[in-house]
Amino acid sequence: MVYQWYPGHMTKARRAMQEDIKLIDLIIELVDARCPLSSRNPDIDGMGKNKSRLILLNKSDLADPAANRRWCAYFESLGFGVLEINAKSGAGMKAIQGKVQEVCREKLERDRRRGILNRPVRAMVAGIPNVGKSTFINSFAGKACTKTGNKPGVTKGKQWIRLNKGLELLDTPGILWPKFEDQAVGLRLALIGSMNDEILNKEELALSLTGFLKDRYPAALTERYGMSDAALAEGGLAVLNAVCDSRKCYKKGQEADYERASSLLLEDFRSGRLGRITLETCPEGEKQA
Ligand code: G4P
Repeated sequence: MVYQWYPGHMTKARRAMQEDIKLIDLIIELVDARCPLSSRNPDIDGMGKNKSRLILLNKSDLADPAANRRWCAYFESLGFGVLEINAKSGAGMKAIQGKVQEVCREKLERDRRRGILNRPVRAMVAGIPNVGKSTFINSFAGKACTKTGNKPGVTKGKQWIRLNKGLELLDTPGILWPKFEDQAVGLRLALIGSMNDEILNKEELALSLTGFLKDRYPAALTERYGMSDAALAEGGLAVLNAVCDSRKCYKKGQEADYERASSLLLEDFRSGRLGRITLETCPEGEKQA
């Protein structure tokens, strides 16, 4: 299966992002905690040179807590501010304001030295599609915030959300495109549901997932589907057959309905019903393992 993204979209998104970056001090970059590197585009590091940086491991509720901690340490070791959050429930979001102050300290001190005391930090939210940008903006900005209009000196049409007197957020997030350097990246993005399922072969995807789970999270399969050790050991179709048996996915005449079982398995994974699972091991973690 070949995973791809459309070049036209990439060019447009990049141009829009480059324009918006000129207006801000801080990039709040959302990544998916289940595959933090696959769900980011490292080009943002070049585009965001000289900007303060904060990485939010979003959907951390769906990812392995131990892996979340390792990923935080990894990004911190690269010099980013980093937090685990759940934009949907709001968990972890309270710590953001403090972290913003921390990563913007240099800028704030520079302002203070120049006698600028009340200029708010301007931030933009960025990330690849489906990583939770809109959910985050809604939840972070909440209902209490006020939208600032088209101020003189600000590009016409730009809306800023004033969160408090120290922080303003651009209301349209920057859209990054995934970077498909290898097919493993595309596969992880397909597994977390960041690609249109219509164009994907769900059975192939489900088989990749079962292959990964049986090695890394076998209990997820045994607990949810009551899978036998023999099916686990055999892997491949034997695992999918066990899902069919457990969920009664049969066509007429007791023939296994792999398509339905595959959809079910993928949905169970994406919704967290299989437990908290991280698909990508961080480089530090690899050394520790
Ligand atoms: P985007 O703007 O980056 O494209 O992403 P968006 O906010 O639309 O979020 C994509 C999906 O991810 C939404 O689910 C949203 O609810 C979910 N989501 C966002 N943040 C989190 C999180 O921290 N944890 C979990 N578990 N889910 C999160 P959806 O199915 O498209 O919509 P809905 O049915 O949840 O409304």
